[in-house]
Amino acid sequence: MRPALHECFKRFKELQCKGAEIGIEHGENAFVILREWLLSNGREIFLYLVDIDVKCEKIATERLGTRDTYKIIIGDSKEVAKQFADGFFDWVYVDDNHEYEGARSSLEAWYPKVKDGGILCGHDFNMEQVEDAVRGFFARNKMELHTEEIDWWGVKCQA
Ligand SMILES: C[S@@+](CC[C@H](N)C(=O)[O-])C[C@H]1O[C@@H](n2cnc3c(N)ncnc32)[C@H](O)[C@@H]1O
Repeated sequence: MRPALHECFKRFKELQCKGAEIGIEHGENAFVILREWLLSNGREIFLYLVDIDVKCEKIATERLGTRDTYKIIIGDSKEVAKQFADGFFDWVYVDDNHEYEGARSSLEAWYPKVKDGGILCGHDFNMEQVEDAVRGFFARNKMELHTEEIDWWGVKCQA
């Protein structure tokens, strides 16, 4: 499992953890997340998977199989974020648009949806525009930034 998701896994040991991966593509990372959580002793997860590309739904469903532990939502990530109440998620893993403005606006949209003490995290920190967007976002929100390999994450502080 990727380093940021391993942090989520360590931090949220309770049953019925709620997570989201923003940007599914072929569902490869989603598959690993579900496998690790479901193989672990007694832990459960509900994983929301968001992508703008309608093709992802079929491809990811074939990979993930029919289970009641995930839901795929097709749409622009910033619009989909509005469907959720603030503080709904234990963690959100952002891996959708890798342009500066796309990454920045996705972080802005999903951050409120993470609960206090939850984790905002993502991938592709090796991409300059993603790194700039993440560093700027963490500085503005006074969050401590952690990175490992090409993952990044931080714990949302209590307001
Ligand atoms: C790098 S891939 C995701 C890979 C996946 N997280 C994994 O590790 O297996 C990026 C995905 O983000 C999606 N995407 C790009 N812009 C988006 C947006 N504005 N809203 C939702 N999804 C978007 C693309 O369609 C693509 O499938």
